Amino acid sequence: MDKLLISGGKPLFGTVEISGAKNAALPAMAAALLTNEKVVLNNIPCVRDIQTTGKLLSKLGCETDLEGLAKNHCCAITAQNVTSYEAPYELVKTMRASVLVLGPLLARFGKAQVSLPGGCAIGARPIDLHIKGFEKLGAAIKIEHGYVSARARRLRGSKIVFDRITVTGTENLMMAAVLAEGETILYNTACEPEVVDLANLLRSMGAKIEGDGSNRIHIQGVPRLRGAAHTIIPDRIETGSFLVAGAISGGEIEIKSCRSDHLTAVIEKLEETGVGVKKRSLEHLTVTAPREIQPVDVDTLEYPGFATDMQAQYMALMTQGNGTSMITENIFENRFMHASEMVRMGANIKIEGNRAIVTGKTKLTGAKVIASDLRASASLVIAGLVAEGETLIDRVYHLDRGYERIETKLKALGADVRRIS
Ligand code: EPU
Repeated sequence: MDKLLISGGKPLFGTVEISGAKNAALPAMAAALLTNEKVVLNNIPCVRDIQTTGKLLSKLGCETDLEGLAKNHCCAITAQNVTSYEAPYELVKTMRASVLVLGPLLARFGKAQVSLPGGCAIGARPIDLHIKGFEKLGAAIKIEHGYVSARARRLRGSKIVFDRITVTGTENLMMAAVLAEGETILYNTACEPEVVDLANLLRSMGAKIEGDGSNRIHIQGVPRLRGAAHTIIPDRIETGSFLVAGAISGGEIEIKSCRSDHLTAVIEKLEETGVGVKKRSLEHLTVTAPREIQPVDVDTLEYPGFATDMQAQYMALMTQGNGTSMITENIFENRFMHASEMVRMGANIKIEGNRAIVTGKTKLTGAKVIASDLRASASLVIAGLVAEGETLIDRVYHLDRGYERIETKLKALGADVRRIS
């Protein structure tokens, strides 16, 4: 199992290019199941979750070309000869987003079987709201042997109110409704840029969708969709992670190929802490470390609020703040696993329910730490950048699921990072 060895204390300078958004690419790949024509996706990040989705689509019978992914960040998928309708446990357990094939398979073929994902390191994460939505569209759902089996002759449009906001739930239902008969209105939907990106792809495939980006999405079903070419949006969480890395390291970095308008809450919060963020253009940011980082409270919220996927990285920053800050996690019930690892590095963090009280500024010292999930791993890398001595991060496969060549990008900025295989 790979590990990352970081020798802290080097300020970061230079330019980093942001990759495509993993969480936009995953539903886009699943959307290719909605047509028998070729779907070409550009700006796909070369990360493990994309490979896993490629494997899943091939298993279903799709022609999936990921050959040149590392070089051209392009992937072509043709779902002409789909022969299986099942996402097996072995794949779902390594990547929950596999559940995104449920909507498209059900809509186009009238049947789908997907292993229930079960809990994960950040919370219980049920998919009950996806299931309720499919039932509303007329699907018959059975849960047996750890699988959700869904069947329907043709889905029928309906009005669906989500009990709470769910990103992949919104995406799954959107993909199901585009081929349903008649009109569907989704209420209390996720407004994340990844949902809008998926809607853009679906529209270029011929779908009739309005209202994406708001909490009410209107879909008029069509009998069939066609192939399309689409470019995935930049990864806002990778962008945010580099903003924090630059700020904590004491340096100044240029962040290119990003979308600053997708990070408004994160940028505003960082500015409150004293971090300098200059918007050179929509796609280009400069982050400058402050002389002193101010402690500022944060609450995670659905978009456009402060993303839960940036909470761990922000916590690393707050360990270097000049005083006490409170971080409240409102999306997942168990997303503080990184805190105890940061404490092992010298941070002063107390957890009370869904709140973390971080008192800075504490000197961090390198230690052996374990990454528990993707964003926790990123936060430990960030903490390692400022820690004195060597930090050895175990279970780097979490990081590889969602960050493309992170050690190469950090090294180019002057960090002392090595992968140990
Ligand atoms: N929820 C339910 N029932 C459902 C669905 C969700 O109770 O049927 C709850 C969840 O347990 C959670 C909340 O609703 O407490 C929100 O979960 P959501 O469904 O929005 O999360 P998700 O769609 O499974 C996506 C991202 C996550 C990101 C969350 C929140 C993808 C592939 N994943 O997950 O990304 O944290 O939205 O923004 O888009 C990551 O990239 O590291 C990551 C975990």
